[in-house]
Amino acid sequence: MKRKLGVGLIGAHTWAQKAHLPGYAAHDQVDLVAICDIDRSRAEALAAKFGARRVYTSHEEILADPDIEMIDVCTPTHTHLELSLAAIAAGKHVLSEKPLATQAEQAFEAARAADARQVRTKLGFTFRYSPAIRQVRDWIADGTLGEIFHIHGFEQNSQFLNPDFPLRQVSPFAPTDKLIPSSIIGYGSHLVDLMRWLGGEFKSVASTMRNFVPVRQVRGAEGRRAIPVEDGAVAIVEFASGAHGLLQSSYIAVGNYPGVELRVYGSKGAAVARLVTEHGVAETLHFATPAEVEFRKVEPDASSYAPGTSVHMLWAELYYRNLVRHYVEEILEGRPQECTFYDGAKSQEIVDAIITAHFERRWVDIPGGRA
Ligand SMILES: NC(=O)c1ccc[n+]([C@@H]2O[C@H](COP(=O)([O-])OP(=O)(O)OC[C@H]3O[C@@H](n4cnc5c(N)ncnc54)[C@H](O)[C@@H]3O)[C@@H](O)[C@H]2O)c1
Repeated sequence: MKRKLGVGLIGAHTWAQKAHLPGYAAHDQVDLVAICDIDRSRAEALAAKFGARRVYTSHEEILADPDIEMIDVCTPTHTHLELSLAAIAAGKHVLSEKPLATQAEQAFEAARAADARQVRTKLGFTFRYSPAIRQVRDWIADGTLGEIFHIHGFEQNSQFLNPDFPLRQVSPFAPTDKLIPSSIIGYGSHLVDLMRWLGGEFKSVASTMRNFVPVRQVRGAEGRRAIPVEDGAVAIVEFASGAHGLLQSSYIAVGNYPGVELRVYGSKGAAVARLVTEHGVAETLHFATPAEVEFRKVEPDASSYAPGTSVHMLWAELYYRNLVRHYVEEILEGRPQECTFYDGAKSQEIVDAIITAHFERRWVDIPGGRA
């Protein structure tokens, strides 16, 4: 019989139901032991739906369960660091939703704590588990694209174009006397991680950010208010390798979810992965070469997909089933780790540099950004 990994999930609501739990339910080497939420009825409902044996209402209880080897932190953002550190201290492997912390240094510390405790971490950078993007990464690794010249990353959709759709990515108590970075954190952190994964370390960044919709509703406050939320950002990137990068995050660009597009141009070929749900298809991949410059649609290798998944399913489930598959196999088979808390900390450090570049109107170097 195949060995199974005991899993416990904390935070039983929207994203857990849509993305994380379908991944565990579909994996034949996962034993979903328990679900925990401070709201018992939520934990009970999802335990019944996804077949977890136990329900807890405090993280201390779930972390003390000896049948659980891996903890999934899918709670609101401000709780990720504390719960992840507690899980590491309890000797559990940890998957945390992003972002791990509000400061990069705290995220680096958590990565070091996990290494010291010899547990494995994963950060919920959903789009690393897009089959199209994994195929592009394979094409870079095996030389198909040659020397990489340009990497363009976009995450843009019209989620917050309507000012009456409450924005949840910003505290209603944030100071309103200057621009409040938001899309660069919520969307840009994913792009930075993808671009760094494909192109290596960043050396230096320059950027501009602004508020395009000045009056809007924010979650937790009544009616519309004037609030200078950054709803669009652009950065230019020098990679340590010498490649150039271009990054754009936007809450107000017309288009569907998730709105991620990655373009990689190399000396031997170019690839465009477009993760935009359109007409029932979650993503597409196009490829061109110097000899055949007209891009043509190609299918990623079957190994890029989790078993039983296809582009005709909801993107959140397509990507998370793949993320769960990789993480479970990394742990059970002792494979090299990827998309760890360290990668989360690096992404955060670079987002911080992009924000500084805007406010100080200058290039900002990334610590350790050498080839
Ligand atoms: N990676 C992605 O693409 C992506 C997409 C969507 C959401 N997210 C992230 O996922 C996380 C969860 O989002 P959501 O929309 O499901 O949030 P949510 O508010 O709908 O649900 C969070 C749940 O956690 C519970 N909870 C809060 N504190 C707890 C604690 N200390 N112990 C146990 N339970 C606790 C709440 O009762 C709630 O049921 C957020 O950090 C969000 O940013 C990531």
